[in-house]
Amino acid sequence: MTSDAMHDPFAPADAPSLPVRLIRADQFERFRDEAGGPAVRWLEATGFKPEPQAVGVWPDADGNLAGALLVVADPPLAWDVSALFDRLPAGTWRLDDPDRLVPPAEAAYGWAMAAYRFERYKARPRPERRLAIERTADVERMIRLASAIALGRDLVNIPANDLGPEELAAAIAGLGEEQGARVETIVGDALLEHNFPLIHAVGAASDRPPRLVDLRWGDPAAPMVTLVGKGVCFDTGGLDLKPAAAMRTMKKDMGGAAAMTALAGAIMATGLNVRLRLLVPAVENAVSGRAFRPGDVFRSRKGITVEIGNTDAEGRLVLADALALADEENPELILDAATLTGAARVALGPELPVLFTPDDTLARDIQDAGERTADPLWRLPLHQPYRKLIEGKIAEIDNSGAKPFAGAITAALFLQSFVGETRLWAHLDIFGINDTPRPGRPQGGEATAVRPLFEMLWRRFGG
Ligand code: BES
Ligand code: MN
Ligand code: ZN
Repeated sequence: MTSDAMHDPFAPADAPSLPVRLIRADQFERFRDEAGGPAVRWLEATGFKPEPQAVGVWPDADGNLAGALLVVADPPLAWDVSALFDRLPAGTWRLDDPDRLVPPAEAAYGWAMAAYRFERYKARPRPERRLAIERTADVERMIRLASAIALGRDLVNIPANDLGPEELAAAIAGLGEEQGARVETIVGDALLEHNFPLIHAVGAASDRPPRLVDLRWGDPAAPMVTLVGKGVCFDTGGLDLKPAAAMRTMKKDMGGAAAMTALAGAIMATGLNVRLRLLVPAVENAVSGRAFRPGDVFRSRKGITVEIGNTDAEGRLVLADALALADEENPELILDAATLTGAARVALGPELPVLFTPDDTLARDIQDAGERTADPLWRLPLHQPYRKLIEGKIAEIDNSGAKPFAGAITAALFLQSFVGETRLWAHLDIFGINDTPRPGRPQGGEATAVRPLFEMLWRRFGG
């Protein structure tokens, strides 16, 4: 699914459809004995191997499509249904799952996630596949989650010339309007008047002024959840300019904002019982005569003085002021996401988001949700002794470590300095793209870890 979607990948449950039988690998013999006939002869003749995510399709006696088989993993995953989407020919299909291997909501999620394509600049014609499915409440919730994630993927995929701070803010305002949220935005020099010096400094060099987007939604009496996302629409590195290869992918440096916007969208569209706030500092880290410099010192919103060791460590700066604002209200929970450090990728590679939180229960809840949804995260420690690595020479804290050690941890410790009141805080250092395609996760922009966070929130706060 995409905001550019050509067609809806779902059909009503009673639409004419062909069956896809679901089995585990160890059930293949039984299936073969029961099914018999042309289906089995065709699968054998075409060398079908019953391994997880294998898809077989067979014709009837006239040569028309007759049915398909999906072998699911043990335990079965939503991603198995994503693999099915990728391999089926055009048509309307329904799941034939007599052993109830895949709950319909999981199937809907896997199918919707696989149906996403980004076609804003190039059409890529492909077979139209629909899943005939009953829209139960659980199914509907997962379809809404997947649509919210599709918006997040679009935001990452749209290049920086078409998605600057203003367009990112407009996308969030548009989502808010659809869901009856209140959205306020503080733009340009007004950031100084409202005491957001770090957001202003990072965004100052660009001709496209920086801004802070503040969305609020939900019952004021419900527990308050505040989401904060790094919205660096392009990261040149600033005066500490990135080399070409490192800069090439930096349109994705608003991936944290995209993920938190997607999560906010899912929360609103499914009516989670929370009082939601979404904060996105949206800036472009550019180069000009107005650029902030290495060695500059700024007094942050919270009052902590920050020395600029490196203008390329800009994400933690904009997040610092946004987290300080979030913390002033002492919400029940603050979650932030950011494409914050290359070091997080060195530590865990492109497929494992790094989770930081001082709270062991929250860590376990998020990691459990990741396990359940086959969308895992891994925790790294907020090792307090490493705070010495980010001491400022003439200011209280430096935005880049003096030594090339523990870069993801020192960045997280920097952020932690700006969260004081709030008991529950978690920070995700994410990649923001799928580096290699996997079922349900096409190459390109990703709203990373949204499903595990959504599931964790659903368990904690419910509908
Ligand atoms: N946006 C980058 C981090 C990044 C790089 C994320 C590549 C994903 C892929 C961030 O603003 C950055 O440049 N961080 C620096 C920090 C350093 C200067 C302390 C980094 O990681 O090198
Ligand atoms: Mn940077
Ligand atoms: Zn950055």
